[in-house]
Amino acid sequence: MTDRNQLKIVTIIGARPQFIKAATISRAIAAHNRSGTSPAVVEILIHTGQHYDDGMSAIFFRELEIPEPKYNLNVGSGPHGQQTGQMLATIEETLLAEQPDWVLIYGDTNSTLAGALAAAKLHIPIAHVEAGLRSFNRRMPEEINRIVADRLATLLFCPSQTSVENLIAEGIVKGVSIVGDVMADALEFAVAKVSDNSDILNRLGLQPQSYLLATVHRAENTGDSQRFRTIMATLSELSEREPVILPLHPRTKKILEHTLNLELPSLRLIDPVGYFDIIALEKSARLLLTDSGGMQKEAYWLKVPCITLRDETEWVETVESGWNILAGANQKKIINATQNFTQPMAHPDLYGDGHAAEKIIISLLEENALKNE
Ligand code: UD1
Ligand code: UDP
Repeated sequence: MTDRNQLKIVTIIGARPQFIKAATISRAIAAHNRSGTSPAVVEILIHTGQHYDDGMSAIFFRELEIPEPKYNLNVGSGPHGQQTGQMLATIEETLLAEQPDWVLIYGDTNSTLAGALAAAKLHIPIAHVEAGLRSFNRRMPEEINRIVADRLATLLFCPSQTSVENLIAEGIVKGVSIVGDVMADALEFAVAKVSDNSDILNRLGLQPQSYLLATVHRAENTGDSQRFRTIMATLSELSEREPVILPLHPRTKKILEHTLNLELPSLRLIDPVGYFDIIALEKSARLLLTDSGGMQKEAYWLKVPCITLRDETEWVETVESGWNILAGANQKKIINATQNFTQPMAHPDLYGDGHAAEKIIISLLEENALKNE
């Protein structure tokens, strides 16, 4: 039976960016509970185990003070069907045991998809954080995951007007609201702490504004050997002129080590780093080159020029503003954009005010109050 004095949320996370996003909501829940306002919010974390290396998972729990997950499903890596299927089976069991009022899912990973499917089949309402994003490229696994998640969600928390319009175009209007992006909340939290928590520039012997920061992990780049070779060769060429720091996602590391015989003499390959270190690196970089969704926005908020190593982006406003250039895996475009980037004069506010997490909790509490009327 529902306890009217508490709102019970099960949060489903599994991949690096989801830990960073979920940390903001866990902090907002803790603040709500400290305020003593009824009902109390009980959050139960399910970690699917999609990401499991210390540097891809545990480090974020330590740094961002994320509560210990009550369940770790230890699903690990595998083909999409197997990975998602295993998650689905165990999430279902867990939701049956916990009987939450809401299931909270984030973004567009396989953990998001499994959470959405499991909850929908059990008739548990879903709240989707980062709803309405579209690349209009169904070859991306993320696009399929987000389309399904949005279709099944009861509450859709959007970061921008564009994401709302994407949903309207698909006939999804009920339960949709713009709250901004929880990644802005996350960045605000990190920026306040970064100088006390990161000495990575010293460790790597880097001077601000004198290096490039790159990341590559998307399936469309790492899974296509032509694109991957071009991107790596281009980063290598750039690194002959100025340092290029490349924290390697494990997927990328494995491909570099086992599949491709590439000479990258001056690229500075490092292990993935924690959130404070990556923000320190981003803040002081002359420019970012990335296929990461999260890092395109962080670059924008930090006013660091960004070259996106993809053919399209969900974060179209960053491109429209002139702070982000889509260069795909085109060597000429990447080098030209890196050498000749002109910083725009204007920097409009995008994706919220850093209080998205609070708005999401308020919205869930309001929905709960309506339900209990
Ligand atoms: C996933 C998400 C992607 C997101 C990214 C964030 C899907 C379909 N994709 O991609 O949207 O941008 O996370 O980083 O959900 N691996 C390890 N250790 C780990 C984790 C992964 O070695 O802790 C290796 C494994 O070889 C694995 C590969 O990385 O097969 C890919 O991991 P997976 O979680 O399947 O996809 P990501 O590329 O990380
Ligand atoms: N990130 C990190 N350490 C790294 C690389 C990235 O903490 O070595 C952070 C990054 O700043 C951003 C998030 O991870 O906040 C993005 O995750 P990722 O690029 O893996 O996924 P995407 O955003 O593309 O889904």
